Amino acid sequence: MKLKIAVLAGDGIGPEITQQSIKILKAIGDRFDHEFEFEDAIVGAAAIDLLDNPLPEATLDLCKKSDAVLFGAIGHPKYDNNPDAKVRPEQGLLKLRKELGLYANIRPVTTYPKLIDQSPLRPERIQGADLTIFRELTGGIYFGEKSQSEDGQSATDVCTYSVVEIERMAHLAFKAAQQRRKKLTLVDKANVLETSRLWRKTVKKIAEEYQDVELDFLFVDNAAMQMILNPKQFDVILTENMFGDIISDEASVIGGSIGLLASASVGGNNAMFEPIHGSYPQATGKGIANPVASILSAAMLLDHFGLIEEGDVIRKAVATSIKLNVCTEDINKDNPYSTEKVGDFLEGLISESENNIND
Ligand code: IPM
Ligand code: MN
Repeated sequence: MKLKIAVLAGDGIGPEITQQSIKILKAIGDRFDHEFEFEDAIVGAAAIDLLDNPLPEATLDLCKKSDAVLFGAIGHPKYDNNPDAKVRPEQGLLKLRKELGLYANIRPVTTYPKLIDQSPLRPERIQGADLTIFRELTGGIYFGEKSQSEDGQSATDVCTYSVVEIERMAHLAFKAAQQRRKKLTLVDKANVLETSRLWRKTVKKIAEEYQDVELDFLFVDNAAMQMILNPKQFDVILTENMFGDIISDEASVIGGSIGLLASASVGGNNAMFEPIHGSYPQATGKGIANPVASILSAAMLLDHFGLIEEGDVIRKAVATSIKLNVCTEDINKDNPYSTEKVGDFLEGLISESENNIND
């Protein structure tokens, strides 16, 4: 297969982790005879520095004419503590999601036997937890009208959802549930929010088309508690943009490190693959960032194009590296491997014959 992949490494640790993913994709290309073509473009704080625009036209154009986008991370401390900044790195990512029509963000959460004891959660509670969060990505409060009153004494963020936006998300989530354990949980705040009531009503209606899937509902505050109390109850979680942002960070604690959580953003003509973690400025350039979230995002990229065996080879290699403790310092505190060394190890496993890769 031939694929054109736009590489938007972005800010902070973005470039160093994305470099490892490219290495892994090249190894997959060599082993399975695929032609992956990579082209870089700037985004985020790096793009603001150069062009005063977090998503330059040339970057957007490249993404539009590529089959997929591999995204690193976005954000810079100089904007985080400056509420008056007019242009912010994050706007680049949000605009990109919107412009590419990537309305569904899929965030799988799984556990690795080796890491069960490292989680701050009790082993018996997380052992075997396996869930996927379907986060709506181009609507809700992230994209509603925003304003501040002239006197600076009040500010507004509007949250809007349409039936169409909810329906298309619901279909994707129900279909995913059918392929998994056939359970879907809608996370909302329908006891308070009008948008959540529309989500509930719309999702209930769509559920009639998926009789084999058990549907239940949780208010987001309760869901946040259940996520750490009993994550095994979840299979597919469907939720709106901001709730999904929050509970997916929370869910990363189950897996042992946010540095392991990958995501796929789909729905438009192309698709984007990005770790759920941020730009981790304190670690930038130190070679300590975990490249696995990005590498697993690359595996989701392969899945997206039907290259399931190729994606599995990456996932198996990652499982092996974790089993052998070939991990960065977020996981392996005593004898940490560098970002690059983890990438090299995985590359080595992938280039070897399949028989040598064991679970
Ligand atoms: C994420 C990130 C982004 C979001 C930020 C960087 C805008 O936190 O992908 O989860 O809030 O969607
Ligand atoms: Mn987030």
